[in-house]
Amino acid sequence: MQVQDSRIVLTGAAGGMGQILARTLHSKGATLALVDANADALASMVKELDGAFAAPGDLSSAGECKVLAAQCRELLGGVDMLINLAGINSFAAYEDEAADKIELMMHVNLLAPMWLARALLPEMQKQNSGHIVNVGSIFGSIGFAYFATYSATKFGLRGFSEALRRELADTGIKVSYIAPRAVKTPMNSDAVMRMGEATKMNMDKPEVVVAKIIAAIEADKKDTYFGFPESLFVRINALLPRLVDGSLAAQNRIARAFAKGEK
Ligand SMILES: NC(=O)c1ccc[n+]([C@@H]2O[C@H](COP(=O)([O-])OP(=O)(O)OC[C@H]3O[C@@H](n4cnc5c(N)ncnc54)[C@H](OP(=O)(O)O)[C@@H]3O)[C@@H](O)[C@H]2O)c1
Repeated sequence: MQVQDSRIVLTGAAGGMGQILARTLHSKGATLALVDANADALASMVKELDGAFAAPGDLSSAGECKVLAAQCRELLGGVDMLINLAGINSFAAYEDEAADKIELMMHVNLLAPMWLARALLPEMQKQNSGHIVNVGSIFGSIGFAYFATYSATKFGLRGFSEALRRELADTGIKVSYIAPRAVKTPMNSDAVMRMGEATKMNMDKPEVVVAKIIAAIEADKKDTYFGFPESLFVRINALLPRLVDGSLAAQNRIARAFAKGEK
């Protein structure tokens, strides 16, 4: 769907990729409702982005997602596109992962996109047009050691995107799943950055990723995976996962010390 003149709800708008995405969508002529937990950052963004609206709130609750969806619809006078960008990660050995962190990640990364899509879909169906864009991760196709919860949430988001897309195939509503590889943003802790260096993990600049996200949206891409060789590994992992077990084994042994806070 074209970005120009679209009314767009963008979650995670105050984050590392969100701020750049918001500015770029605005410069391309979109009207934006910016959703994020960081109300102060949203307030300064709407001062800068003429005509954009701030909708601060916590996406981890079903009730608040429903309220936020209604508020965004009201502010924009309708919604053409929902971009589910907000997300959180955790780099930890699974035995150290707190139960409430697991629940929070499921809520923010998987359930919030599902709740928001559920709230906004009926209106898109009435107008028989719309675009639901779910930002996942390469970790949504390749389960990564020490990112077990994060991987599970993004696998779920990919499955939801595929099923909903098939369900809406005979309508004017598009569903896109966009999966970046690692990106240099505040989402990645110092431990992730150090592990990334030690394992030679590829990391993209957020500006580059945002440009690719917008290109994927405007081309109505169904599934998009960024970066080589990661996008190739997605295919290989689907066909020959045992081969990928082997090729990640050495990297996983290095990553463990970082995940356990020993390095
Ligand atoms: N960075 C990467 O390496 C990478 C790679 C692949 C995919 N992705 C995906 O790309 C998306 C954006 O990531 P990013 O790197 O831009 O992350 P980021 O810089 O951490 O930004 C995420 C934003 O979401 C907000 N948020 C978190 N929990 C929220 C909640 N409960 N309610 C409302 N807002 C909430 C955060 O607000 P607070 O900071 O105030 O909590 C933050 O502004 C995520 O879905 C992520 O999984 C990232």
